[in-house]
Amino acid sequence: MRKKIIAGNWKMNKTPKEALELVHNLKNKVDTDKADVVFCVPAIDIIPVVDALKGTNISVGAQNMHFKDNGAFTGEISADMLIEAGVKYVIIGHSERRQYFNETDETVNKKALHAIEKGLTPIICVGETLEQREKAITVDFVRIQVRSALKDVSAEQARHVVIAYEPIWAIGTGVTATSEQAQEVCAAIREVIGEIYNDDVADEVRIQYGGSVNGSNAAELFSMPDIDGGLVGGASLKDDFGGIVNY
Ligand code: 13P
Repeated sequence: MRKKIIAGNWKMNKTPKEALELVHNLKNKVDTDKADVVFCVPAIDIIPVVDALKGTNISVGAQNMHFKDNGAFTGEISADMLIEAGVKYVIIGHSERRQYFNETDETVNKKALHAIEKGLTPIICVGETLEQREKAITVDFVRIQVRSALKDVSAEQARHVVIAYEPIWAIGTGVTATSEQAQEVCAAIREVIGEIYNDDVADEVRIQYGGSVNGSNAAELFSMPDIDGGLVGGASLKDDFGGIVNY
């Protein structure tokens, strides 16, 4: 039985002071017995947020990292830096990074491999545009994204990876995929993982849905057989996140 995993992606929101206010407000409102809970915060908020979450079972995640150990990469952050700061998860290949920061299937794969080698759990994001959905190529496209992201990842390593299915048309739009649409793609992701590895690995990998998840739609989405929780943007910055985790 896969444990649900619900992660908040704060994106570029909350100064360190505001981050602490949000954490103090939320940390006693989320039940970490039934689901793993992760706050993916801006890099500058990581250290204070890790500190503020001491004594809880809430983990901290980063929103990006570089695939090299160190070096002349101005503005980037390394896995070792994140780990020393107390980070356990890292979002890789969010559609906003693919769209605005030239993230490609190739860099997503390099980052995923590097995160895994270092002991971080990658939350690998995949998902189609509205145009792709209208052309009915969603499943084919997402299958390619998953295969590319997991290239050279071993079966043993793949077990611990988290995949987030985030249809781009549902992100920040208030338009959520129906539970059937989300289930269809999450099932296809599990199927392709089974083809790359085996049924055992496919059964273990946790697959999240993301895109306008809120307190009113979380329960239905997360009750679908192949949806193991959510990656939550806007609603993770509000009290609503407590309701989503405790759905
Ligand atoms: P919203 O929940 O704001 O639609 O964002 C989803 C997302 O991009 C999470 O990574």
